[in-house]
Amino acid sequence: MKILVTTPTGKVGSELVRVLAAKGVTRRLALRDPAKAPSGEEAVAFDYLKPETWSAALEGVDRVYLASVGDQPADPEKAFVDLAVSKGILRIVKLGAAGIENTDVPLRQVEKHIESKSVQWTFVHPTWFWQNFSTAHVASIKSGAFAEPVGGRWTAFVDTRDIAAVVAEALVSDAWVGQILTLTGPDKTTRVQFAVELSRQLGREVKFLDVTDEQFRAAVRDFLPASYLELLAALYSWVRAGATEFTTDTVENVLGRKPIGLERFVADHLEVWR
Ligand SMILES: NC(=O)c1ccc[n+]([C@@H]2O[C@H](COP(=O)([O-])OP(=O)(O)OC[C@H]3O[C@@H](n4cnc5c(N)ncnc54)[C@H](OP(=O)(O)O)[C@@H]3O)[C@@H](O)[C@H]2O)c1
Repeated sequence: MKILVTTPTGKVGSELVRVLAAKGVTRRLALRDPAKAPSGEEAVAFDYLKPETWSAALEGVDRVYLASVGDQPADPEKAFVDLAVSKGILRIVKLGAAGIENTDVPLRQVEKHIESKSVQWTFVHPTWFWQNFSTAHVASIKSGAFAEPVGGRWTAFVDTRDIAAVVAEALVSDAWVGQILTLTGPDKTTRVQFAVELSRQLGREVKFLDVTDEQFRAAVRDFLPASYLELLAALYSWVRAGATEFTTDTVENVLGRKPIGLERFVADHLEVWR
């Protein structure tokens, strides 16, 4: 068994590389700049926007972890899936997002394309990542306040370490073939609760500002590409509509242990916000 890991520098992919290494599973990292791969990892140049890089990446692998990039359209990934299947790939484990099942967003378009092919698949659908707070929100948290347009709704944030562990199981075990695994964490957390726990563990106050859609757009307009801003605004409108207010027991069913929750996520990332 040899696994191709796309987006191995991403929030989930980087954890997946660690999980596969700990399990002793043979892997190849597919990334735009192979020099960014951790030392000792087999790495190959790979870019969704450069089809000429795809064939060498797939040579000699039989399973693929496939993750999308931000607001990327479906077509490059669909073409990559076609090539993978034509090369005899056995299984694709695809990272999606909770709630996309009945939509036609690009993430779901890629999944439908995979379903139509003669290949084993598992779709992993996490809710919002805890790790957004330890990446995208770091600068604002350090400055004392972070803002999101979520209308007071709660989310059962999931840890990317748990997502990666589930992805690894789906790659190596036959138990999850043909299933959509919807992942959440254990805690029904409002952003205010997160801010309170973060403030407690950091020993200084961090505030949460529940802004409107208009305030959010005005704050990020100068920093984000328009298409990515629209994607984020749409995702936040789902949160305001209550679409993230659910929990599943899938992480525990797959891993045989409870998912990582608020207190541990904060404790494990304190240095990032100091
Ligand atoms: N954040 C959330 O709360 C959340 C929740 C549910 C689902 N998701 C889904 O998670 C996925 C993102 O996964 P992630 O968070 O692990 O990734 P990420 O942290 O957003 O990182 C993006 C990755 O994509 C790579 N990349 C960028 N452009 C590329 C290209 N043209 N060709 C190949 N690779 C490219 C980057 O590599 P470089 O090092 O080259 O930049 C990096 O590894 C998205 O599909 C998103 O919808 C996110």
